[in-house]
Amino acid sequence: MHPEYLALIEHSLEARKRSYSPYSRFKVGASLLAGSGKIYTGANIESASYSLTLCAERVAFAKAISDGEKLFKAIAVSVSTKELVYPCGACRQFMFEFAKDLDIIVVKSSNQYVITKLRDLLPEAFERKSITSSKK
Ligand code: THU
Repeated sequence: MHPEYLALIEHSLEARKRSYSPYSRFKVGASLLAGSGKIYTGANIESASYSLTLCAERVAFAKAISDGEKLFKAIAVSVSTKELVYPCGACRQFMFEFAKDLDIIVVKSSNQYVITKLRDLLPEAFERKSITSSKK
């Protein structure tokens, strides 16, 4: 466990409080540790037009990428449920585009979390080389 991951966990718990989720009432917070050392946070943002909802993970990535970050070490994702909740399939695919070796910290509280790897959550991932190696 990297010492910097403890701060990351705390940021994700704080970010969760800023969730805009009046429809599901399911609050998610994310915090992303970028190569620069900076932490970018995100929270889920819902819409009356449900399908426009943004997941917390993708909000954090969008903030970081649009700030010029290119490398990513880890993301902490916080929810408040009995069971641990892992990032959705769409977020796994989205994150894989930018951070194949990402550590994912799934957080319930400051001292209840599990660290896993994006590669383990997305085996046989579809990626750039899947397209370029295709035969015409
Ligand atoms: N949600 C996330 O923010 N991240 C995920 O990985 C899964 C789902 C949000 C979207 C929606 O606002 C709420 O959780 C319920 O699906």
